[in-house]
Amino acid sequence: MNKIIKIENKNFIKLSHEETRKLLPVIIENNIPLMRKKKDETFVYLPSSDLDQYLKKQEMDLYIENETYTRYKDINLDFSFDSPAEKYPDDIGIKSPRTAVINKTDSVFKTELAIANEMDMIERVQTVINSNYRLRQLIDQQSWYNESVASEIANNFSRILCISRATLDDNINRKVSEDQIIKLISETEFAVDNLISLLSNGKSTYADLGRLGFIQTGSNTLNHMNRMLIRLVTFMSYFNEYFTTHSNDVKRIRTRFKESFHPHYLKLFPDPQNINLEIVFKGGMAPVADKKIFLEYALGGFFHDIGKIPDIEYHDSDEGFVPVKARRHVFDSYNMLLQSGRFPLGTVAMGLLHHDYYHASYGYRQRDTLVKKFDKRKMDRSDSLRTRYCMSHNIMDVAYGISLSYFPSKILEILDIYDAMTDPDKNYRKSSLSPDEALEEIKKSYIEKGAPGIDPILYNIFIDFLKDSKIIIDSSFADALKI
Ligand SMILES: [Fe+2]
Ligand SMILES: [Fe+2]
Repeated sequence: MNKIIKIENKNFIKLSHEETRKLLPVIIENNIPLMRKKKDETFVYLPSSDLDQYLKKQEMDLYIENETYTRYKDINLDFSFDSPAEKYPDDIGIKSPRTAVINKTDSVFKTELAIANEMDMIERVQTVINSNYRLRQLIDQQSWYNESVASEIANNFSRILCISRATLDDNINRKVSEDQIIKLISETEFAVDNLISLLSNGKSTYADLGRLGFIQTGSNTLNHMNRMLIRLVTFMSYFNEYFTTHSNDVKRIRTRFKESFHPHYLKLFPDPQNINLEIVFKGGMAPVADKKIFLEYALGGFFHDIGKIPDIEYHDSDEGFVPVKARRHVFDSYNMLLQSGRFPLGTVAMGLLHHDYYHASYGYRQRDTLVKKFDKRKMDRSDSLRTRYCMSHNIMDVAYGISLSYFPSKILEILDIYDAMTDPDKNYRKSSLSPDEALEEIKKSYIEKGAPGIDPILYNIFIDFLKDSKIIIDSSFADALKI
């Protein structure tokens, strides 16, 4: 190995085209991350599974991380990621095409995953039971969401997430018994349920719950996943209360529908149809009253990015790979959850659909995967399926092609985009956007440009949520951003 590898600089070792070809079987087999250098001297990660194809097309030098090489040189490159199988996690689909870049701030995620991978199933289940015990204590003490509670939540859920990830990976490789996976998943559901109880015990205001900066796990990816879980639970509670606390705003949505919202929704359907609020929300706009459904949605939020791996984040770029690469993590999330056979379809589908954006070209268009899965049954159904709704609380409406989207996924999309835009951890942005800049950007790029990707009504409610959470102080400015 030493003979054919030259040190390029202290961070990376350069492999020539020829050397890479020679090493290709080892690289692919072990899922070794390779990079290429861009014109601006930055490095871009190349998915190992596509290297062969990539190399056929162009002559270029590829790079391997020096640290990784040094760590493993003695075992002749016989190493792999902490996580099996090549994966291409992303963040959001702001623009495409996108490429992935190595980011160095996920060491905590790697360590937690390694710890989880080392544990046997009894230890894993016991760890989640311990977390539940701690969450129950916090509930019994009537704790409110402050800095120390937030970090307890983040520590516990980061651990649970890594344990789930390790177990779902093992499950795909048929290493877990059904009994064990049932135990683990029910404890995990219980943990999310406990979190819902803790956050909605009446002790924390929306302003308290808005302080997601308290979540500091040391990993960008785990920070994002924790913030998303907390925010999804908080926003869904807010949405439920909205019908009483903002009943006038709810009425206004109806009275202003024709003039403000209708033009946007019209763009979603190829044939003009009589669109009203009951078409936008199948069965009418309504709270998520059923606790079981609420939990199903919260679990979907918790697991939506479980297909991600550490150390890689997606990066806007004007060169690089086609968006199909970025889609991979939604497939991985979907697959892992589906293969377990133990999650409700709604939870599973949220992993798949959270970058669909009403089937926009910049979305990952994964709704087709779900619809195809149910295609046969759809054909068997005798009733007419012509009516198309925008959102449904029932995943089967999406699976049968009756509804364009799944209601909790539409919520998740807004929260996900907003989180990515305002995330201070993002190292590819010079600075993250302020809350109102993010809203402006969402409106401009995801609602007003062509057909809406983000739902316009949910967007308006999200603005009220940010106002009531005291995240946005200038109410009149925020109101002016509404649709
Ligand atoms: Fe994602
Ligand atoms: Fe996400």
